[in-house]
Amino acid sequence: MSQVSSRQAKKLSDYKAPEFTITDVELSFELNPQATKLTAVYQLKSASGKAGTLILDGQELKLLSVSLDGQLLNADCYQVTAEQLILPGMPAKAQLELNIELNPQANTALEGLYLSNGAYCTQCEAEGFRRISYYLDRPDVLARFTTHIIADDTAYPALLSNGNLVSSTLLPDGRRHVTWVDPFPKPSYLFALVAGDFDCLKGSYTTGSGREVALEFYVDKGNKNRAQFALESLQRAMLWDEQRFGLEYDLDIYMVVAVDFFNMGAMENKGLNVFNSKYVLADQQSATDTDFFNIESIIGHEYFHNWTGNRVTCRDWFQLSLKEGLTVFRDQQFSADMGSATLNRIDAVKTIRTAQFAEDAGPMAHPIRPQQVLEMNNFYTVTVYDKGAEVIRMLHTLLGQDGFRKGMDLYFKRHDGQAVTCDDFVNAMQDANGRDLTLFSRWYQQSGTPELKVHSQFDAKKREFKLLMQQHTPATADQADKEPLLLPVRVELLAEGASLPYLLEMTETQQEFSFAVSQKPVPVLLADFSAPVKLQYQYSMDELLQIARDAKDGVARWDAIQQLWQIQVKAAIEANSSGAEYQLPAALFEFYRQLLVKPLDDLAFTAELLTVPAYDMVAEQFDEIPVQTLVVALQSFQQQLATQLAEQWQLCYQSLQAEAYQYQQQQVAKRALRSVCLHYLAFVAGKDELLRQQYNSSDNMTDQLAVLRACRSASHPLFAELMSAFEQRWNKDVLVLDKWFSLSASYPQPPVFNTLEQLTAHPQFSWQNPNRVRAVFGAFYQQNPAMFHSEDGKGYQQLADVVLKMDAINPQVASRLVTPLLSWKRYQSARQQQLKAVLQAMLTRDLSNDLYEKVSKSLS
Ligand code: PHE
Ligand code: ZN
Repeated sequence: MSQVSSRQAKKLSDYKAPEFTITDVELSFELNPQATKLTAVYQLKSASGKAGTLILDGQELKLLSVSLDGQLLNADCYQVTAEQLILPGMPAKAQLELNIELNPQANTALEGLYLSNGAYCTQCEAEGFRRISYYLDRPDVLARFTTHIIADDTAYPALLSNGNLVSSTLLPDGRRHVTWVDPFPKPSYLFALVAGDFDCLKGSYTTGSGREVALEFYVDKGNKNRAQFALESLQRAMLWDEQRFGLEYDLDIYMVVAVDFFNMGAMENKGLNVFNSKYVLADQQSATDTDFFNIESIIGHEYFHNWTGNRVTCRDWFQLSLKEGLTVFRDQQFSADMGSATLNRIDAVKTIRTAQFAEDAGPMAHPIRPQQVLEMNNFYTVTVYDKGAEVIRMLHTLLGQDGFRKGMDLYFKRHDGQAVTCDDFVNAMQDANGRDLTLFSRWYQQSGTPELKVHSQFDAKKREFKLLMQQHTPATADQADKEPLLLPVRVELLAEGASLPYLLEMTETQQEFSFAVSQKPVPVLLADFSAPVKLQYQYSMDELLQIARDAKDGVARWDAIQQLWQIQVKAAIEANSSGAEYQLPAALFEFYRQLLVKPLDDLAFTAELLTVPAYDMVAEQFDEIPVQTLVVALQSFQQQLATQLAEQWQLCYQSLQAEAYQYQQQQVAKRALRSVCLHYLAFVAGKDELLRQQYNSSDNMTDQLAVLRACRSASHPLFAELMSAFEQRWNKDVLVLDKWFSLSASYPQPPVFNTLEQLTAHPQFSWQNPNRVRAVFGAFYQQNPAMFHSEDGKGYQQLADVVLKMDAINPQVASRLVTPLLSWKRYQSARQQQLKAVLQAMLTRDLSNDLYEKVSKSLS
């Protein structure tokens, strides 16, 4: 690292309101790749009305001059450190002007002002504005921004910033000067600037109250047609938020810019979203059904932030879940309404059970409102986002849709235009519903995954069924002592073909619930995954199969199948320590046979039920993960299903003929089931023609990729041939090529180590581009457990080298990549040693704060 930053963690309990605030900001950028000139003018006000010392945040900035109320200051009037500009004796009211020089071209961290394929763009969340100018770079300082951009008119015809364009003038030297004014006061993290030469797709939206909003999508030249779906998604999201929450858009223009160089998915800058291009661009040839789905959901997410995040923002970064948990919940509700509620819920449950439970079990465990942070970028986590959304969902479950809406209305009534805390949100929910949510608030303080143990008793004489429940949250790395939480537990009692639904509220460590029944029912517990906990209940195979058939709740039906597979995995491990020879029970084949002969009405749901759980779903059940045994067992399960039901897969596949592609729910469902059939058929001998046929004849990326995935999973000989055809067809198109990078890196056989080297030498690979790096190495550790955990430790070493290399280029990307190395405690001793050695070696290096925080925690 060029600059050694202080390793001082910040604490939530140390929060202090700012002594000075900035009410108005005027920024003037004269763009230049290596020497952009910025003049920043701030109107400052002291909160107490007294003079004092002003401390501004700033990093890696070249400060040219400072003026106070029009007077140039001598350098001895202020102090510049690696992270601050300190100005003593600042009057209670003042105008401060800074002149700064920036080098966007050298910015590979992609925070602050940088270049993406020649276009200027900014990324300021969380603390990136301080890489543009010295500022009170904290979300509780809200200012009105005016932005001037001056740049060459032919090279950069699009000059964009937040708010409304108020003037545009061509200067005599061929440069253009534009001025944007954002009427809504905002924190610096929502500032954005973009300058480039794009194609622009235009549309419009008329709000419920009749205001016309211009919608503009800026994309790389030639990609205009690929933005159509994103534009329509935005229109759907705008309408949905009006109908569901009564929330309308508030500016006259909404712009989205798609860039290929981006650290995250997308960013909700006021009126000017910046998106990773993979979440904007799609057409049937180049994008899969999943890509279309993600685009709609992320377009929705960023749009919904305009109210939950922008109009009401966070007081400090510890409150990140205030905007992210709530906005993820909102985008999930939107997606559920646009498609299948059950399938969406299943996806969310998978995320929690894999990534989020793993985070709780690892060295970075934290509550949805973290208490201590060294590098804020490390806390854009599945816990803050997805568990945060689960916490909001529990409120929704407890209060009902109408009660939740009342709470939202009160929240906006009280806090529009403010920077607030998670407590303010819960208080609004509480006050609007006249309900004490004190106990519920523990979800914000306590980390870890609660375990819910349930026993049942049936008394035939008394005609009484009892559920005895116990909750316990094991200690986490960050927090030893845990208290009982408020758990909404949805239950169905299945008896005599009927299902009775209940919503239980568990508030104590132990509790008993009784039900008057005439017959012993099968309890469906935690329907809809009503709380983010691990459930333990001794179900028999028969009971699980009954739930899978008869429960009302689709998530519970799917979950019963998941539990069946968990039982199979444990049985396989017991039967044979290699996991290979265990035979699946006949009842399971029979259940699958019936499903295949007579698929359910919802084909996508059928496809889910027919899928053997992924490695990470299964692994999460083990304190110590038996990697190789799991990999072998899961492979063997798929092989057995494929062989035993070969004829049924084939018949089902043939019954689902492809039709002209549309991204439309029934078609998506049909393709999903076809892909599952194809997956198993790749494990059966003699299906080369069928695989080749689908690859060559399909009119869409979903069906083509299904062939490549199936061949990859079955290590099918066709894989190499089809992959090389795919590379030839798509090597000019980086977004599509990323799919090829990922497939190559997830091939589950040893040649993959050579492949990884070849991939990074590919002309389209770039260490500077996070999408490329993630496509290769993200896929390697997420989708290739057999090779990532290879016995000789090669996979660990490989990833560690990449992490160190990336840390010098882009610390945020490095810090996300390092995650799978941190959980060394969860592996058997040989792997523990290898992982620890790799982490210890890392710690001897000069690491970024991002990486240091994670690696040091994992070793402490
Ligand atoms: N706030 C963005 C979102 O959730 C995520 C993000 C965080 C993007 C930090 C960039 C940097 O929508
Ligand atoms: Zn968000």
